[in-house]
Amino acid sequence: MEITCTSEELDLFERISKEAAKLNVECYLIGGFVRDKILGRNTKDADIVCTGDGIALAHAVAATFKHKPQVNFFKTYGTAQFKLNGFDVEFVGARKESYTPSSRNPEVAPGTIEDDQLRRDFTINAMAISLNKHNYGQLVDPFNGVADLEQKIIRTPLGPNVTFSDDPLRMMRAIRFATQLGFEIEGQVFDAIRRNRERIRIITQERITDELNKIMAAKKPSIGLDLLFRAGLLKEFFPQFTDLSGVEIIEGKGHKDNFYHTLQVIDNTAAKSDNLWLRWAALLHDIAKPATKRFEEGHGWTFHGHEVVGERMVPKIFKQLKLPLNEHMKYVAKLVSLHLRPISLTKEDITDSAMRRLLFDAGEDIDDLMILCESDITSKNRLKVKRYLENFELVKQRLREVEESDKIRNWQPPISGDEIMKLFNLSPSREVGVLKTTVREAILDGVIPNNYEAAYELLLNKARELNLNPINSAL
Ligand code: CTP
Repeated sequence: MEITCTSEELDLFERISKEAAKLNVECYLIGGFVRDKILGRNTKDADIVCTGDGIALAHAVAATFKHKPQVNFFKTYGTAQFKLNGFDVEFVGARKESYTPSSRNPEVAPGTIEDDQLRRDFTINAMAISLNKHNYGQLVDPFNGVADLEQKIIRTPLGPNVTFSDDPLRMMRAIRFATQLGFEIEGQVFDAIRRNRERIRIITQERITDELNKIMAAKKPSIGLDLLFRAGLLKEFFPQFTDLSGVEIIEGKGHKDNFYHTLQVIDNTAAKSDNLWLRWAALLHDIAKPATKRFEEGHGWTFHGHEVVGERMVPKIFKQLKLPLNEHMKYVAKLVSLHLRPISLTKEDITDSAMRRLLFDAGEDIDDLMILCESDITSKNRLKVKRYLENFELVKQRLREVEESDKIRNWQPPISGDEIMKLFNLSPSREVGVLKTTVREAILDGVIPNNYEAAYELLLNKARELNLNPINSAL
């Protein structure tokens, strides 16, 4: 087995080998580093396991560098870590571990390298490379991890029930690796995930969401999301999402399965953009369809207002999943609320003012909104998709034209709220809002031109209606 390491990596491994010999401990490279090197993927960290005190080894190795990197260590877990030019090196003593059923706190005892490999999550993550003088560079692969890499299969070193009850987060990890690497999960391993799904409840939401985001960031997120769904894991922590699944039929009329439709929209979005939050907007765009679903006689299924209800559901879901409650959340909520707008512009007789209004409402997120909306065009009927996409191209073209002539995207009305308050000696109030909106709407509708004089005149007329007098007409 040939692997390629950088000269910095080789230098580091030789230092570790020497220091381990001095301390009289055995040591190995293990886990993701070995896996990714064999697969030819990039590596940005390395795990070292030794039969002895990992913290002492980390200190000894760090001391061999001129600049002596700072060693961070956790006595309770026997782990230590330092960084070399952004490359993360982690040390741990080989362990035998067992977990109590109700918690993730392991009971740890020192063990051999074989013990340590046996308690790792998957065969492809349990391979080790020796850094010992007598067999330096030799691959130690007791569970045929290399064969599993070749056959693209996720298997556990121990019986899967034991591996997953040791650490239920591994159920998420199995699905995440399957998604990132395009691997299959072995049948009995997948069955064990299904059986143990409720155990995910003892894992903190942050760690679950971390794995979910890795799935969302993969090339084809639907692989992992579908596996999470079929394993029953998704329902455990994200029931609003699984509520989208299924088709109801009344009077012979069915609707789309909105779960599988959503997966398609996420993949379509992922093919066009790496932006994680745009992918989240795709995941959530129809989240309120179950809540708004109605069957209207003679008409069929409707989901009126699902974009508005969906927008309101976003903060709650972000909180529940421990996603950041910041500008990313606002961006997702905004895209959910606007996701139907571009497609509504494919109808005939759409005015420039409707185009301007969308450009104004979407602001700098207009390009992302267009990606989301285009990704939302899914149907089994290829002709239908083709026709929609052609019409959608026309909308994009017109939006470009309107933007070029009117520059609405980052536009602000020519008279600001502050100026209105000064002009009429008002403090923040409903009147200020009414005046501001009047000016903005008139410009977007093309009733008055986009300049200060026209806006000022309109403002005076509207103020008169509201019995307001300007205190300073030479503003
Ligand atoms: N590991 C494990 N069980 C876990 C987490 C980690 O057995 N729940 C072991 C695996 O051997 C894994 C190694 O610890 O390879 C390092 O874990 P981590 O850094 O989380 O993952 P990587 O495998 O390095 O992969 P990635 O960097 O893509 O997360």
